[in-house]
Amino acid sequence: MKTFGALFAVISGATALSIAEINGNRFISPYNGQTVTNVEGLVTAVSSAGFYLRSTKADRDAATSEGLYVYGSNAAKTVTVGDIITVSGKVSEYRSNVDYLYLTELTSPQNITIVSSGAKVKPLVIGKDTYSPPTSKFSSLDEGGLFGVPNNVSRISVANPKLQPKKYGLDFWESIVGELVTIKEAYGVGRPNQYGDVWVRGNWKVTGKNKQGGLTMTDGDANPETIIIGTPLDASKNPTDTKMGDYYGDITGVVSYAFGFYRVLPLTHITPERNSSAAHPPVSFTSKGSCKGITVADYNAENLAPTSTHLPQVVDQIINMLKTPDLLFLQEVQDNSGSKNDGVVSANVTLTTLVDSLFETSGVQYAFAEVEPENLKDGGQPGGNIRVAYLYRPDVVELYKPNQGGSNDANEVLPGPLLKYNPGRIDPANAAWVDSRKPLVAMWRAVKGGKKPFFTVNVHFTSKGGSTSLHGDARPPVNLGVDQRTMQAEVTADFIAQILEEDKKAYVIAAGDFNEFVQVQPLQTFAKKSGLTELDEVAKISMNERYTYLFDMNSEALDHMYVSKGIGKSVKYEHMNLNTWQNYDDQVSDHDPSVARFDLC
Ligand SMILES: *[C@@H]1O[C@H](CO)[C@@H](O)[C@H](O)[C@H]1NC(C)=O
Ligand SMILES: *[C@@H]1O[C@H](CO)[C@@H](O)[C@H](O)[C@H]1NC(C)=O
Ligand SMILES: *[C@@H]1O[C@H](CO)[C@@H](O)[C@H](O)[C@H]1NC(C)=O
Ligand SMILES: *[C@@H]1O[C@H](CO)[C@@H](O)[C@H](O)[C@H]1NC(C)=O
Repeated sequence: MKTFGALFAVISGATALSIAEINGNRFISPYNGQTVTNVEGLVTAVSSAGFYLRSTKADRDAATSEGLYVYGSNAAKTVTVGDIITVSGKVSEYRSNVDYLYLTELTSPQNITIVSSGAKVKPLVIGKDTYSPPTSKFSSLDEGGLFGVPNNVSRISVANPKLQPKKYGLDFWESIVGELVTIKEAYGVGRPNQYGDVWVRGNWKVTGKNKQGGLTMTDGDANPETIIIGTPLDASKNPTDTKMGDYYGDITGVVSYAFGFYRVLPLTHITPERNSSAAHPPVSFTSKGSCKGITVADYNAENLAPTSTHLPQVVDQIINMLKTPDLLFLQEVQDNSGSKNDGVVSANVTLTTLVDSLFETSGVQYAFAEVEPENLKDGGQPGGNIRVAYLYRPDVVELYKPNQGGSNDANEVLPGPLLKYNPGRIDPANAAWVDSRKPLVAMWRAVKGGKKPFFTVNVHFTSKGGSTSLHGDARPPVNLGVDQRTMQAEVTADFIAQILEEDKKAYVIAAGDFNEFVQVQPLQTFAKKSGLTELDEVAKISMNERYTYLFDMNSEALDHMYVSKGIGKSVKYEHMNLNTWQNYDDQVSDHDPSVARFDLC
């Protein structure tokens, strides 16, 4: 590129702007809205909607991209890859949604002159001809970190910060937007969406790599070194049935931005060259059948209804993968009519179907414990009345002094400690639980050798749905529901703290879909106020294997177990990545279950 610069500077005239000047060293072009003439560039790629130019006069500033998208289907028909052209047009910043970043484009292209043809076009190899993508931070505007609270304190489109491509992920991708690049040795870190868009990492330095080949989110690191592969420029289609860890080889395409993310639009569709295995081993330990080793599993089984087509697969996983745990914390159990909004709230058919099916297949008899919500008051799929529930093996554990609570009964910690309702919900009228699941507290005893009862709290906090993308305009990105989750964490933690006030050695297990990461405010609050410790910490699970969910580029943990100090010793704990490793069609739920074993004697 630098040679072209010297060669053609004279031809194009002194007044023409370079592509680097048009892009500038910030997110928004300094020439936004202005008409520019005789911009010179090498055509690096063409699609039916437009074409991509690379500057013939590269500057020495890594922050100013040498690439530019020229938008216009008629103009695209007049150029060929390898042409060096001059073009005039209007510099425009485009986005299809106010939560996205802008893409700099040259629109209404006119007066295209082909200066020469047949020039060699070499993609920039990412990490070799460019910096390596930064591995932890996204934006200089992320005050308090990517998940800092409050969110949406500033906007990239307004602050328009100077690009620091060595330091911040968004700045890095912006600094090469419009360029033709090659990603060497690409592995999928996510699972494609219905359009075949898939997140990958290249052969540059990455952090958080898990054993399956994905990248796990850790504290302060949500993997800005990854990039989405979007719609191919030649209108071919990416596969939609690939999965985390599949190997795609080298991918060449142009850097763009659309639908909330920087992306590489490949010249043609990608194909997996080697596939990862989705086969996960079953849990490596089983129950001891007594207080010496009680197995406890946690599973968000995704809108489970009596007629769910995935119910038999959930049964299969519980039996063959989780090895029929003694106590199961379930989330997203729907009422007997599933998502039909018909006033039905009871889930006795849903839970009986599950229990009967488990018995038929394994001969293991389960019982269930739950408290019905009020119709349409707990959020989730409209009409589904999702709730948390326990399945348990009555031959191994039993409710201790059961006293069924109702939808509106607020559970209380009584001297002992004992529960007023067993099972019962925590403070159902509290504003923290509007349109959300109320935690279900229960008190249990191991049938064999269980002198000391233990307490469980099954949670499903309010969802993150509607959050803005990690590559979005709002900084820190909008983490929807974070304030409500903090309130929920406080109310739940206060209840647990009361149990531990009565008996500081009480056995307490709180588990479920917290819809939040441990490093973010709600769960920091929860740990501090409840006095519980996250089981990943207690069991010393390797940082990169702590995940139960796959979202965008991240293998991440939304589901957790927290335990009181008394039950940390000789614990076993495994995350069962039965679903995150699968392709879209073969996942049974959108969450992975986890299994633990505790000595509760
Ligand atoms: C295109 O070329 C014509 C004829 O030379 C000129 O009048 C016009 O101003 C040019 N348009 C732009 C946008 O440069
Ligand atoms: C973020 O804040 C802006 C005001 O700066 C507001 O217009 C916008 O609605 C907020 N976005 C979200 C998703 O809350
Ligand atoms: C990888 O899996 C896909 C389905 O996702 C299949 O079409 C393809 O043939 C497999 N490729 C290899 C190399 O095994
Ligand atoms: C569910 O509860 C209703 C009402 O109590 C009862 O009539 C029905 O038999 C129950 N069904 C099952 C499968 O337990």
